[in-house]
Amino acid sequence: MSGAPAAGGTAAFDAIAPDYDASRGGTARAVGFADQLAPLLDPAAAVLDIGVGTGIVAAELTARGHRVFGVDLSPGMLARARERLGARVAVGDAGRLPVRTASVTQAVSTWLLHAGPDPRAVFAEVARVLRPGGRYLVIPARGMRPTDDIGRIVGELEDRLDPGGARQDAPGLLEPIAAAHGLRYEGRASERPAVFRVSPDQMARSIAGGRLFTGAWQVREEDLGLVAEACARLRALPDPELPRVREMADFVMVFRRVD
Ligand SMILES: C[S@@+](CC[C@H](N)C(=O)[O-])C[C@H]1O[C@@H](n2cnc3c(N)ncnc32)[C@H](O)[C@@H]1O
Repeated sequence: MSGAPAAGGTAAFDAIAPDYDASRGGTARAVGFADQLAPLLDPAAAVLDIGVGTGIVAAELTARGHRVFGVDLSPGMLARARERLGARVAVGDAGRLPVRTASVTQAVSTWLLHAGPDPRAVFAEVARVLRPGGRYLVIPARGMRPTDDIGRIVGELEDRLDPGGARQDAPGLLEPIAAAHGLRYEGRASERPAVFRVSPDQMARSIAGGRLFTGAWQVREEDLGLVAEACARLRALPDPELPRVREMADFVMVFRRVD
């Protein structure tokens, strides 16, 4: 292992906290996520943002009239959130929430469940803190992968680097975990398509150093050969300098505590 932060955990997020917002779509991403979440939230009830990060999304929800509280494991990320949300954020583990049982009407998580926590522990805790009928809204990071020639290669690489599936947050994986904890998956809402352009060469350059899984942590040194192999496959695609039109969609997964 190089001096890079270990996979997941707070060290990786503490290290990237100063650059996090700008490198993840900045305010535009936060505005988009808040626009997707806000219509699904009850403005009369407080919102718990689990894995609030720098608070960039929570601040946009606050600007739309919601009273948002946040929990995050990374003190570095939370320092930024505190600037935005003041004392309404606290250090806490999503798998051990510092929140009273059955005290929450609605909770949200954006780009949390691929980022390190055990989803079983998170859903168990969400089920504990939600009131019966309460909802947990999740915007996954890896919910919908592009299936073009670039996406197939990068997707295969991510699967090889994550054979246990710990970095996955697609609906098919989360639904049975949620159900096991009394949270019913009610489907997708607020789907928002996004179209962007990237060439195989550009993608190869961006992953070459081993920055995958949204760049939150470094690939282990012993796995860099797999990354190099994927880069070579990308560069061997037809017209590697030609940008592909890539289609993705962000969506909200809606879970409800049923008992
Ligand atoms: C990819 S960031 C997303 C942050 C924010 N939700 C956003 O959309 O900007 C993931 C966040 O989850 C936090 N995190 C990772 N594991 C956690 C855990 N077990 N408990 C609480 N937060 C955690 C990280 O510290 C980081 O701030």
